[in-house]
Amino acid sequence: MNSDRMNPIEKKLEDCVESIRRVTDFKPLVALVLGSGLGDYADTDAVKVECRIPYSQIEGFPVSTVAGHKGQFIFGYVEGVPAVIMQGRVHYYEGYAMNDVVLPTRLMGRLGAKVLFLTNAAGGVNEGFHPGDFMVIRDHISVFVPSPLIGPNIDSLGPRFADMSEVYDVPLRQILYQAADSLGLSLQEGVYTQLTGPAYETPAEIRLLQKLGCDAVGMSTVCEAVAANHMGLRICGISCITNMAAGLGAAKLSHAEVQETADRVSRDFKRLVTEAIGRIGRSLTEE
Ligand code: HPA
Repeated sequence: MNSDRMNPIEKKLEDCVESIRRVTDFKPLVALVLGSGLGDYADTDAVKVECRIPYSQIEGFPVSTVAGHKGQFIFGYVEGVPAVIMQGRVHYYEGYAMNDVVLPTRLMGRLGAKVLFLTNAAGGVNEGFHPGDFMVIRDHISVFVPSPLIGPNIDSLGPRFADMSEVYDVPLRQILYQAADSLGLSLQEGVYTQLTGPAYETPAEIRLLQKLGCDAVGMSTVCEAVAANHMGLRICGISCITNMAAGLGAAKLSHAEVQETADRVSRDFKRLVTEAIGRIGRSLTEE
């Protein structure tokens, strides 16, 4: 399409693709978004790094402002699988428009990723959960945040009315279980709800979420999954339950607690992600 007539969101996306392509022609199969506690994953031996691109070097790109979230793309190999890794995501509560929040997700899809692997830190809403548990995301509730698909539809990405009946890919979920099994780790499973944040919830809000069938709550992930599903990526996600949600545990909530639990279990979280990506890569090449 003539770029003068292109939707401005699509134009920005194409400009970002171009600015990445000026630096690297790396073609990822898997796109990995690192949540709290996994931030240094790309600095470990698990990733054979080919190239790093700070978000600040990409024109028009939203830059994360949260402590503990570095802002860069890392291109490299995990268990031999070509991956693009977002070290630091962009949150809606930082004040960005929803279409900017999902720009990095769309960009990774445009760069060639077929699978989006989402990770996050979340509050446990299901009273059977414990801080330090990992939860496979089976489904999500998006109704508390604006849809990233609002506005003129970008037909080159996907349809106006996207189907959301199976956002989290069943075979990928099975791979997560197989990976966890092989490492002797156990997994919870459930429904993740994104709220805008940045404040944590009140106990009344958590009781509301329990009534809605929610198992974990956080401030990210769902909008990214919606945008990725719209453009046909296969998606899987794991929440690290860093704390019991408001009113369910004794203590007040703090970012320090979230970070502390995430750090405590980060070794296992990283092993799980590495093992899962290896298996996902092999399953993609077998197809
Ligand atoms: N609520 C919202 N987001 C979170 C929480 C929580 O309890 N823990 C980690 N991220």
